[in-house]
Amino acid sequence: MSKVLIAPSLLSADFSDLANEMKKVTAAGADWLHVDVMDGNFVPNLTLGMPIIKSLKPHATIPLDVHLMIERPERYIESFIEAGANYLTLHVEATDVLKESLKKIRALGCKPGVTLRPGTELEKIKPFLSLVDLVLVMTVEPGFGGQSFKQEQVEKIRKLAKWRAEGLGNYLIEVDGGVAPGTASICIKAGADVLVAGSAVFKGEKSVNNYQKNIQAIREGGV
Ligand code: DX5
Ligand code: ZN
Repeated sequence: MSKVLIAPSLLSADFSDLANEMKKVTAAGADWLHVDVMDGNFVPNLTLGMPIIKSLKPHATIPLDVHLMIERPERYIESFIEAGANYLTLHVEATDVLKESLKKIRALGCKPGVTLRPGTELEKIKPFLSLVDLVLVMTVEPGFGGQSFKQEQVEKIRKLAKWRAEGLGNYLIEVDGGVAPGTASICIKAGADVLVAGSAVFKGEKSVNNYQKNIQAIREGGV
């Protein structure tokens, strides 16, 4: 198994200095940049949309992993891909046309992902596993950074790893919410390939050295 990938969530970065924050976490060893898009409807919070992703894209040297927490995301698939998303992840609860949407994402040259709220049963996404490159397990209620890790969701990581071994799909397993050194180790043991971390990466001084220390601590959580 290759080393776990770390995807810092820009939600916890300094929004007045996003391009530099991206450059710093990249220099600090981040593998992907996780971008949380919220519409104040699917979740009770608003963040950023296509124009900001588009203006950040030229400054990004690693993949943009875009997590859409919006109602009827099918309306904006082309726009997010044009803006520069490399991975585009949709919530199963947010759309009635998930299958078509995932196929469209792939047809447009982007990598499709699927995710679910902590309260949603994993069986709900089972029919879509062969269509995606990424399955995101939410270990907090989507909407805000800095919440605590929901331990009972770890079973979903294990099950996804088992289903993949049984041939149900060829996806990476990503975990999002409350990931910090201690909880990272639990996720890695359960089979996670990619760890999203917001507050645990961006806490403390806004320097490459500090971010490097924070990222290293999360990776080593798994040793
Ligand atoms: C929550 C977002 C997460 C969030 C994670 O809705 O999907 O990506 O930024 O933040 P932490 O790592 O602080 O829990
Ligand atoms: Zn996220």
